Amino acid sequence: MKKVLLTGGNGFFCTRFSKYYKDKYNIFSLSRKELDVTKEEDVFESLRKIKPDYVIHAAAIAVTDFCNEHPEVAHKINVDGAVNVAKACKEVGAKMIFISSEQVFNGNLESGPYDEEHKAVPNTVYGENKLEAEGLLKNILDELWILRFTWLFGLPERGLNINSNIMWNTVSSILKGEKIKGPVNEYRGMTYVQQVIEEFDKIFEIPYGTYNLGSKNDLNRFEVVKLILKEMGLEHRIEEILEKDEEKYAQNKRDIRLNTDKIIASGLNFTTTEEGITQCLKDYKLYNK
Ligand SMILES: NC(=O)c1ccc[n+]([C@@H]2O[C@H](COP(=O)([O-])OP(=O)(O)OC[C@H]3O[C@@H](n4cnc5c(N)ncnc54)[C@H](OP(=O)(O)O)[C@@H]3O)[C@@H](O)[C@H]2O)c1
Repeated sequence: MKKVLLTGGNGFFCTRFSKYYKDKYNIFSLSRKELDVTKEEDVFESLRKIKPDYVIHAAAIAVTDFCNEHPEVAHKINVDGAVNVAKACKEVGAKMIFISSEQVFNGNLESGPYDEEHKAVPNTVYGENKLEAEGLLKNILDELWILRFTWLFGLPERGLNINSNIMWNTVSSILKGEKIKGPVNEYRGMTYVQQVIEEFDKIFEIPYGTYNLGSKNDLNRFEVVKLILKEMGLEHRIEEILEKDEEKYAQNKRDIRLNTDKIIASGLNFTTTEEGITQCLKDYKLYNK
């Protein structure tokens, strides 16, 4: 069995990856406690000991506000940590997958979807960190895939981490009786995490390089939340639960959608966001249309 080492092993993505691939790969999922990627020597030691075939570097601080408020901490983890992992991969001959983000484009004034060649203009520390790390890693390693993820969504599962995402945020707001404000001027790719996991190991077979990854989406954020409510059988409560937010991003429409044609041409399949919403609700038996 091929050995796959995961950094940030307790996170939303990695806990699902480990569960899904536990019988197919020999997985070494290292939480922050087990491997702090900012500690260079520890990173080298872990990789020397495990000698993985693949390293999926998912460890990051991905909370935008925290990164903006603590730029030095964010840089140390998101940039220096990634560099430590890449150097250790080079030494032990492991192939690396670096998980980057659509957020590299959040300062671009022109509308998406952006392809991989489009000049990225980040305007948050998190986005800047990801773009800087991408550049540094390319100078260290040839055997490198950079994956720019769209925004992932899913629902809680026992023992697995959950993050803020469009599906869980919507369900949580309903449970708490909170009104949801859905911006009509915000467009982003939103991808059902299960689809990403199931397609993921095809990455090991495609040429090295940078890829945008995830669903295409023509719906704005308000429309996505409305769709979730409809498909949960809550159409009669839409006015009570959901409110249009026409002010947010009114001056400059936020459109950070990714053009994912390259990865689709490489053999990975993703439904549209709309279809992913339906699939997720059906998987969790919440579909009630
Ligand atoms: N989820 C998305 O929608 C999305 C979209 C675009 C890109 N991404 C990227 O995809 C990757 C995985 O995302 P995710 O959603 O699974 O995020 P997550 O749930 O926040 O997982 C990241 C993990 O990294 C760990 N970590 C933080 N600092 C570390 C350090 N110094 N050393 C080792 N581990 C550390 C965290 O540990 P603690 O729990 O202890 O803090 C956390 O478990 C990240 O690189 C993220 O930037 C995610």
